Amino acid sequence: MEVIFTSNYEKICEEAARIILREWKKKKNLALGLATGATPLGVYKELIELYQKKEIDFSGVQTFGLDEYLGLEEDHPQSFAHYMKENFLKHINIKKENIFRLDGKPSDIDTNCQEYEDKIKSCGGIDVQILGIGRNGHIGFNEPGSSLSSRTRVKTLAEETVKDNACFFENEREVPRFCLTIGIGTVMEAKMIILLASGGNKKDAVRQCVEGPVTASVPASVLQFHPQAKIIVDEDAGALLSRKGYYEWVFQNKERVKDYLK
Ligand code: F6R
Repeated sequence: MEVIFTSNYEKICEEAARIILREWKKKKNLALGLATGATPLGVYKELIELYQKKEIDFSGVQTFGLDEYLGLEEDHPQSFAHYMKENFLKHINIKKENIFRLDGKPSDIDTNCQEYEDKIKSCGGIDVQILGIGRNGHIGFNEPGSSLSSRTRVKTLAEETVKDNACFFENEREVPRFCLTIGIGTVMEAKMIILLASGGNKKDAVRQCVEGPVTASVPASVLQFHPQAKIIVDEDAGALLSRKGYYEWVFQNKERVKDYLK
């Protein structure tokens, strides 16, 4: 796990976009896993700017949505499909046929979830998965108690998630109680994971994710098992991390590893 401390939200987004750009330079048909929510918005903005400056080209890129509310049509203003289109996909030159997402109104839930898993596999797996983190430690909509080896499936939102997401709807009653999400096992198969956390309301979840025991009660803690998990935080979200000095030193000095071979 690599913990990257930044001074503020903008820097989180710049760092995440920088990593994605670097990975895209290595693989032009990158498979990018996309999260919704407030946190990744700045990353999408950065990536759009990079595209406008012609530093990145999305024509070969494939994207996979992380989750979706069950029961919402694609064009519902609060669907994750709508969010991704408005905040990212319509601003870049991605090919329509390379955009994959969970259907909020599937004809058959189990078949659709299995087909989504199959699609991810047939594209060679997700290269870079962007994640946010819930205050309760969820990743995707894998709420506390989710199996750490779960696959894409239907989930019931936790009470605190319904409350946290109510601000995007008219009121709390409008928030769907069910969702589709790729599983924790599915997330863990991504070659690289970038988890972003900003603000003091995420500090406890970040502490448990990075320095707590690995437990299904804090789904994000499973990332401790991932060989390429990058946790990018600002000062407030990282406030409870006890090894801050060490993480900062590692990040600032990682290029020096090569000097030791000279
Ligand atoms: C979004 C998702 C969620 C969010 C998390 C944090 O697709 O799967 O896990 O990443 O709830 O949300 P924000 O960024 O709004 O605090």
